[in-house]
Amino acid sequence: MTNALLSPPTARATLSRLQPLHAAAMYRWMLDPEVAENLGLRSEPTLERTQRWIESALGDPSVAPFAIEWDGRHVGNVVLDRIDSYLSSTRLSIYVGEPSARGRGIGKLALRAALDEAFAVRALNKVWLTVHESNARAIAAYVAVGFRVEGVLRDEFVLRGQRCAALSMSVLAREYHSAPSR
Ligand SMILES: CC(C)(COP(=O)(O)OP(=O)(O)OC[C@H]1O[C@@H](n2cnc3c(N)ncnc32)[C@H](O)[C@@H]1OP(=O)(O)O)[C@@H](O)C(=O)NCCC(=O)NCCS
Repeated sequence: MTNALLSPPTARATLSRLQPLHAAAMYRWMLDPEVAENLGLRSEPTLERTQRWIESALGDPSVAPFAIEWDGRHVGNVVLDRIDSYLSSTRLSIYVGEPSARGRGIGKLALRAALDEAFAVRALNKVWLTVHESNARAIAAYVAVGFRVEGVLRDEFVLRGQRCAALSMSVLAREYHSAPSR
């Protein structure tokens, strides 16, 4: 996906509902160690398993999976899952799968769009996530859009065979609604 480098600075990241047609790209990204290791994938991905995951997510009211589109191209995914209507909370996970699209601000734009979905569209109160402590780029992107660290989860992640800590991070609706950068 080298064309991402040609995108004009005004290009926007938009979210569309993830569909079965997105499975091939998603499977390819899951084979990339940068994605697999940082997400903490536990099993070898297959195209069939990826297709099944999308179909199951689309039928599950506690999951809202989105494709990230940059200048009309599918470059990654962001998923709200564990949507809890009692607590009014959801977990968020994200990956910009196309290597050439990383580090260009797309992750932050997609995170803001996902927070709009959670807080403005779904009126949820809390979006939370976990990230291993060495994933500096992801942590910087999360902080930039308003996530705060709420705790350190000791030995909660295995990165290339080594145990390490994970950060528990979250952003609340009142913080999102009062943020000047919105
Ligand atoms: C994490 C991820 C979604 C971020 O998306 P992105 O488009 O690459 O990130 P952005 O360009 O929007 O923002 C990256 C931020 O990290 C900063 N950054 C980049 N490299 C960094 C590094 N090595 N150390 C610290 N900060 C770094 C950037 O400066 C930017 O922050 P700033 O604009 O506030 O200065 C993307 O890199 C990705 O998918 N990585 C692989 C999978 C992954 O780690 N997913 C998250 C699992 S929890």
